[in-house]
Amino acid sequence: MGKKTYVLVGTGGRAEFFYGAIAGRFRETAELLAFCDINRVRMDYANRMLREKYDYPEVQTYSSDRFDEMIAELKPDCVIVTSVDRTHYLYIVRAMELGCDVITEKPMTTDAEKCQEILDAVARTGRKVRVSFNYRYAPHHTKIRELIEDGAIGDVTSVHFEWLLNTKHGADYFRRWHRDKRNSGGLLVHKSTHHFDLVNFWIGSQPETVFAMGDLLFYGRENAERRGVTKFYDRATGNPNAEGDPFALTLDDNEHLKAMYLDAESEDGYRRDQSVFGDGISIEDTMSVTVRYQNRALLTYSLNAYLPWEGYRIAFNGTKGRIEANVVEQSYVNSGGDKALEGALQGASILVFPMFGEPYKAEFEEGEGGHGGGDPVLLNDLFGEPVEDRFNRAADHVDGARSILTGIAANLSMAQERAVKVSELVRFD
Ligand SMILES: NC(=O)c1ccc[n+]([C@@H]2O[C@H](COP(=O)([O-])OP(=O)(O)OC[C@H]3O[C@@H](n4cnc5c(N)ncnc54)[C@H](O)[C@@H]3O)[C@@H](O)[C@H]2O)c1
Repeated sequence: MGKKTYVLVGTGGRAEFFYGAIAGRFRETAELLAFCDINRVRMDYANRMLREKYDYPEVQTYSSDRFDEMIAELKPDCVIVTSVDRTHYLYIVRAMELGCDVITEKPMTTDAEKCQEILDAVARTGRKVRVSFNYRYAPHHTKIRELIEDGAIGDVTSVHFEWLLNTKHGADYFRRWHRDKRNSGGLLVHKSTHHFDLVNFWIGSQPETVFAMGDLLFYGRENAERRGVTKFYDRATGNPNAEGDPFALTLDDNEHLKAMYLDAESEDGYRRDQSVFGDGISIEDTMSVTVRYQNRALLTYSLNAYLPWEGYRIAFNGTKGRIEANVVEQSYVNSGGDKALEGALQGASILVFPMFGEPYKAEFEEGEGGHGGGDPVLLNDLFGEPVEDRFNRAADHVDGARSILTGIAANLSMAQERAVKVSELVRFD
């Protein structure tokens, strides 16, 4: 079998996860042909990384207005989309129209209209979309799926799920484009797409009705003022007011951040180091969601973005018992740390409480690598030789849509103060 060929759109922090895999571990089965972005400096930097870090030949670069030209000239098998969330659907839809399959980063897109456009394009073109849900592949996550599928607690009736983002990782969403809801859909779409995908995967169902409340209670200028802060700044780099602020990220003292963002600013005005206590934040940092699933299970979920540790606690109640899991993650932020460790595991425990039997600890092999050990397994699934998967973890456009529809419904619920039926949002046929 010949090598599968790829082009990649969006050469920011996340892109290396994919191009590094193709240029490294999977160079026998995959070939990278080009980069595409609105920013030439970032594309050139990605090429420098290819050459210097991976000893891989530089690839062609195309500005985003030449996307069609790139596909016509290079005829790739697949387009990898790692651009700003708001723009994913443009490339997903166009790539399929031009005859390519797609691998897209999460969230597949940010609102119901764009989601419908993707679903319609799949139906029209017959092409494939893969959403890179790395978390599904983490051994402890797969173990929970296995326990539930094998009936360890009978039918799941309710789930209580609390996710904590710490002051490093959580704060990062308030420094850059994510802070504007139009770009990311807010954290209930951008971040919770992972979590809601896991719930869909774990309980083998999909969301039906959603009610949500959310607020900005910690980040933002007004909250800081209320806590007595008087020194403000717009961006951290080069600003004395940022000194001593544990939330400040400066770009000139880190070679990678400087090359990728500071040196690229003149092209598009993208500032990576804004104060999290500035004005103009339109996403929530404190969120609470209730969901009814099609199998009648109920979910209570909360997400907070300014906490002392990162990870989650979850409990599944069922007709034959209960599962409790606690997971602590080490968060890397695209701000100079070791990428391979993004979301790497610090500890996970799964306890099963049979309704009438003795509680026991579920055993699983702890995975190494990012996203709780999920990243390396996902990459093999994307770029390596196909392997049988009892758990069917490869996520397609339907999984991608179902994982964002809870958050999109939650956004509507918050705006209109009502329960929202997911069937109001998109049509799957
Ligand atoms: N699965 C994960 O764990 C994970 C982790 C990090 C990021 N991500 C996802 O990866 C994507 C990128 O995130 P990031 O942290 O690399 O952001 P980033 O800001 O570092 O990079 C975004 C890139 O998109 C480019 N871009 C902006 N508008 C564009 C357009 N119209 N056309 C083409 N390119 C455009 C920017 O110039 C930039 O190079 C996001 O969708 C994010 O959700 C996923």
